[in-house]
Amino acid sequence: MRANPQSAIHNPKWIVHRLESVTSTNDVTARMAREGAPEGTVVVAREQTAGRGRHGRRWSSPPGGLYLSIIFRPHLPFEDLWQMAFLAAVASAEAVGQVSGLPARIKWPNDVLLNARKVCGILIKACLRSAVPPAADLQSSIIVGIGINVNNQEFDLEISQTATSIALEVGRPVAVEEVEEALLPRLDARYSRYVAGGFGPILREWRNLDCTAGREVAVSTAEGVVEGRAVEIDPRGDLVIEHEDGTRTCVAAGDVIIRDT
Ligand code: BTN
Repeated sequence: MRANPQSAIHNPKWIVHRLESVTSTNDVTARMAREGAPEGTVVVAREQTAGRGRHGRRWSSPPGGLYLSIIFRPHLPFEDLWQMAFLAAVASAEAVGQVSGLPARIKWPNDVLLNARKVCGILIKACLRSAVPPAADLQSSIIVGIGINVNNQEFDLEISQTATSIALEVGRPVAVEEVEEALLPRLDARYSRYVAGGFGPILREWRNLDCTAGREVAVSTAEGVVEGRAVEIDPRGDLVIEHEDGTRTCVAAGDVIIRDT
């Protein structure tokens, strides 16, 4: 890890560490969390050499994108930690929407799309001091990693038809700092609201930005592909799929392909 000269910039809400090149901001932040770094610690890197996505996939992270991870200590039951990813998706979609001037949408569980292509992904990681929840809960932290394709121009072959960047959609370069400045206050506001008022308001906002419900989908899960119409996202964050015969399946984790675009 190589540190930028301005390595720790403090503001009232966030303690932002700016690094030049890291393996993954999630790894750096997890280490800091284990060493006792406070809630609100943010690690932003100009590039990641081993950026990770969901399901162990690679997250291509050349200079020109926004790659950051944040330490939260929300005192949540272990089984509710996924709510932080929904919260981050809402803040990210709003930030991308503001900077691009285009309507950003969320595809379940937490991909942010511009013009139906993925522009942002979120990866959360629980750092437990004890391996046994719920005893671990109050001692734990959660790392929220957010990757936004800002000026990225090229993508790995497997995602070349489904990924995009803000710059590609608006047709001009975009300052990475502008995206960060749009994102952090929105995260702050959502997190304060969540701590004070629970998940209900976040879920309502998430549903307003959602582009999954009501669509014909195929969802790749660990158990196979589930096909049907996405009916809703239920209060546990599961995607409810209705099949042709009227039966329903709740999917807790998977990748959605929207079929009726
Ligand atoms: C996804 O697959 O959609 C999640 C992508 C998350 C990427 C971000 S970039 C910052 C943080 N560090 C990582 O290695 N991954 C996350």
